[in-house]
Order: sequence, then structure tokens, then C-alpha cells
Amino acid sequence: MQVYLNGAYRAAADAFVSIDDRGFLFADGIYEVMIAHRGRLVLAEPHAQRLRAGLKALQLDTAPAGELIAIAEQLLDLNRLRDADALIYAQVTRGSAPRQHAFPPAGTPVTVYVNAKPMQSKPATCFDDGCAAITVADTRWSRCDIKTTALLPNVLANQAAHAAGAFEALFSRDGVLIEGSHSNLMAVIDGEVVTYPSCNYILTGITRNCVLDLARTLGLPVREGPIFADQLRHVDELFLTGTTVEVMPVTSVDGQAIANGSPGPVARRLLEEYRRYI
Ligand code: PDD
Repeated sequence: MQVYLNGAYRAAADAFVSIDDRGFLFADGIYEVMIAHRGRLVLAEPHAQRLRAGLKALQLDTAPAGELIAIAEQLLDLNRLRDADALIYAQVTRGSAPRQHAFPPAGTPVTVYVNAKPMQSKPATCFDDGCAAITVADTRWSRCDIKTTALLPNVLANQAAHAAGAFEALFSRDGVLIEGSHSNLMAVIDGEVVTYPSCNYILTGITRNCVLDLARTLGLPVREGPIFADQLRHVDELFLTGTTVEVMPVTSVDGQAIANGSPGPVARRLLEEYRRYI
């Protein structure tokens, strides 16, 4: 596999990052994940824009975020991924310098790493039967809108889900389910598609925004508002959205069935539309 590291394309086995890299020492970096469907990047511009915004938030805006799309295209060619579905991962850190909390001297080169790999499709049963989720308290910081590599709460939450035999962990903040460990959350309540508002407490997913647009185009009412944990008994449908989960129905939470325990028509329709779109 060929990867991009700091201006050059090289074999993954020959790509190394310093032990002083601030991504390693402080999680001082931003990442992006996007897909290419049969060789065509999906929603590349919004992903590049979010990367740019994240770099700006970290005062890392000297990094060449604008090159993400060109690098991803090049990696699809180098890795012969034009006929397959691929997952592109990009990460930018504040570079390598002796450990001190404050920024390293101006001019310290950032570390830029991008890879493209064949995408492991989720089994059809995840979509046909839906998945299980658990709820966990949201212990994250209050800038979850920044896609930083500091993902320990997400890692621990997702591990708890896996240990419980579930697929996703839903973060609960003051009794409201706001998003998953690596996905956004939507519900169908009284005929409306409901999802937490775009704000500093969630990562505003590119898939989320695309699915909301598709829902509006289909004439489905959309509302950005809370999904209360104690409301789950009464919701008609619950589903995840995200680059790696597409539109995935959630059919149980903490062992309790959602509606009749089967995926609902809105999630199914939005998955169809999303797949058609990409
Ligand atoms: N995660 N919320 C969180 C916390 C996420 O980590 C992600 C995506 C999403 C969905 O965003 P998008 O639709 O732009 O993929 C929401 C990526 C895929 C990851 O960490 O692997």
C-alpha cells in the first residue's frame, strides 16, 4: 500500500513518524475520514472544508488542507482503488518537537499523513436487521465539533459497546442522546426526523447533513432538537448516520427494543436515497 506522508508518496512499510510527534504525545492534530465509491470521492468538498475549519480551530491553518482532495485522488490511482470502494484517512498534527505544552517554534513542519484502503463493507444484516446500541455518559470536552484525534472517550465508549455485544455507544448528556462514538444519531418521532442540533457538543457529520437534505427533498419534516433517553420507548425509529455506517437502523438500546425491534421505513428509504446519491 502506498501512503502520503509529508509531501511524498511511499510504501506504508517505509512511512515513519517521529516519537516526538505532537500527535503521538498530545493528540495535537485533526483527522478526516471519507469514502470513494467506485473510484469517485464522496462529498469531498465538505470533508475538505471541515478539515480546514478544524485546522483553523487548532491554529494549524498553515497546513495544506487544500491538497487533501488531490492527494486522495493520487492515492486511489497508486493503490488501484478506482474499481472498488475505498476509505480515505487523513491526519495533520502540529509536527515533531521536544515535548512542551505550548506550540513549537514557528516554522516547525506539520505532519501530514493520508492513506486510502479498500473499504470493508458492513454486513448486509447490519442494515436489514439493524444494530444494537448502549448508552454511556458523555465525558468528552465541549468542543466535539472539532474532529481532533483525541478520541479516548469515544474509544472507551465503543469498547464498552463491543463488550456488551452492541455496535455503537450513544453519548448521553443531561438525559439527551446526542450522537454515537463514531456516528450521528437520528430518530423518527411523530413523523419528524429528529437529530441533535449542530453545535459544539457533537461532530456535525457530513453524512448527517447529506441525509437531512435528502429527507427534506423527500418531503419528510426535519427537526434539530433533543432525543431524550426516556423517550426511546415511544420513538418510531432510531438510526445512525456516518461515513462508515451510512444510514444504519438501531433496533435496540440497552437491551430494550426500539418500536417493534425491526428497522423502520424512514431509515430504509434514507439508506436507499443515500446510496443512490453516493
Ligand atoms: N467518525 N460523530 C462522531 C463522534 C464521529 O466520529 C463521526 C465520524 C460522526 C459522523 O461524521 P461523518 O458523517 O462526517 O462521517 C459523528 C469517523 C468516521 C471516524 O472517526 O472514523
